Amino acid sequence: MCSIRELHLDDLYKFNALVFDPYTEVYNLSFFLRHFAQWPELALASISPAGALAGFIFGKCLDSGPGHQQLHGHVCVLTVHGEYRRLGLASQLMKSFAALLELRQAWYMDLFLRCSNRAAYKLYCSLGYVLRRVLLEYYPGDAMEDAFDMRKPLSRDKQRQCLDSVSMQPVHLPAEEESDNEY
Ligand SMILES: CC(C)(COP(=O)(O)OP(=O)(O)OC[C@H]1O[C@@H](n2cnc3c(N)ncnc32)[C@H](O)[C@@H]1OP(=O)(O)O)[C@@H](O)C(=O)NCCC(=O)NCCS
Repeated sequence: MCSIRELHLDDLYKFNALVFDPYTEVYNLSFFLRHFAQWPELALASISPAGALAGFIFGKCLDSGPGHQQLHGHVCVLTVHGEYRRLGLASQLMKSFAALLELRQAWYMDLFLRCSNRAAYKLYCSLGYVLRRVLLEYYPGDAMEDAFDMRKPLSRDKQRQCLDSVSMQPVHLPAEEESDNEY
């Protein structure tokens, strides 16, 4: 059985086997350094009984609105090593991150994923995430790909207000919203 602890800077030396998955988002060193500096307790590792890195999550907590109505968590990266999949590790990492956000009294959690990533889409649906909108050409590259923007209310948002803005109309990410790539 795997256990969860905070992810440390030196775990980056062990994560090649996880980040070569095409669906694992890979960022530059400044992304990871900013994360460890700003949200050290919101990056979590799943560790196998033998001490191997089995999965990790990089989350952050943002507060951009009046009256703290926008205090929310955002998942930047979630991945599980191929040998440890379908054991519930991603679910466990997501729930641990959610528990940390509950302590901060955040309103909701959100995340972006590639529209072609069926496994992740099923995972997030199984955890109660709701598809909020489609972000056109969110992922750059030779073949630009759209993203699903999914959201889940936390216990503070009893009226599920964070889902009021669910839209069927695909949009480009508005300029005032921060992309995961902006580091
Ligand atoms: C997506 C990913 C994180 C899932 O990790 P995991 O630890 O295997 O997920 P869990 O074991 O917690 O799965 C929970 C549920 O999600 C769904 N699910 C997970 N992987 C699935 C798959 N390959 N196909 C279909 N459903 C899947 C299932 O409903 C599963 O429940 P079940 O096993 O009882 O059927 C993992 O496949 C991964 O790291 N993929 C590459 C990186 C990635 O896509 N990250 C997310 C980017 S947003």
